Amino acid sequence: MTASTVTVTPLTPSIGAEIGGVDLSKPLTNSQREAVHAAFLAHKVLLFRGQDLRPDQLESAGRVFGEPYEIPFVTPMEGHPGIIEIVKEASEIGSFNFGGTWHTDMSFLETPALGAVLQAVEVPPVGGDTIFVDMTSAYETLSDGLKETLSGLKAVHSATRGYGSQVDTSDPRNTTASMKIDVGSHADGEMLHPIVRTHPDTGAKSLFINPVYTIRFENMTIEESQPLLNYLFDHARRPELTCRVRWTTGTVAVWDNRQTMHKALNDYDGHRRHMRRLTLAGDRPR
Ligand code: SIN
Repeated sequence: MTASTVTVTPLTPSIGAEIGGVDLSKPLTNSQREAVHAAFLAHKVLLFRGQDLRPDQLESAGRVFGEPYEIPFVTPMEGHPGIIEIVKEASEIGSFNFGGTWHTDMSFLETPALGAVLQAVEVPPVGGDTIFVDMTSAYETLSDGLKETLSGLKAVHSATRGYGSQVDTSDPRNTTASMKIDVGSHADGEMLHPIVRTHPDTGAKSLFINPVYTIRFENMTIEESQPLLNYLFDHARRPELTCRVRWTTGTVAVWDNRQTMHKALNDYDGHRRHMRRLTLAGDRPR
């Protein structure tokens, strides 16, 4: 197969593309790797339909984009430290779904994830879509005045609302029987990141904030920070800056976590949804 067989069909003008002509279960040629990686940087979220991957093949496919990374707080798949199984059983009515609030993966770490590769193993007949936001376009569509205000500002990120002491585990809607998630005050640490980060490969600037892990601006209270943070979240979530992924069994998505945020919809009670996620190691946002 040559690069000329790789097709790139955009889902929207700014975010998301469907890739054709690539079988991720086999090693990619150099020209395929180049074409796919260029599409990843340009479109931020890539979809590969009809893939059939073992966990080791998921890891090999992920290496086109980065190195596998073991995330904290979620027990990985045995023998595959970079992979977690994201499962909500049909019997888990009204319960939590993993990734169900707007977030950027692991933004509370010193080196948040570069991205992730998500494989749909079993999906509901309808529902369970994932929505992605283009945080580069979100930054670019701000006024010059607000860009200037944000330049040089930092925000405090923490896992306290996702895995820490702010999770009310007495409420069954916040728990899952299908995944081993380690919730507790050990997840309450804080990390400072720039509000606007520069992509290490493209030089593009993106908003690097998200509603679950970004707690407040540096040197400001939560109350002082919330109005502007809420404005920025609402601005970013405008439909024209998003794409929506409808999963089918065998769909594999790869996203660039440095220029996106996402949310998995929890609208499929009574059906099983099983995904496999390989997380990719990232660098420190600058
Ligand atoms: C995630 O946030 O990694 C989960 C996304 C999904 O299950 O669609």
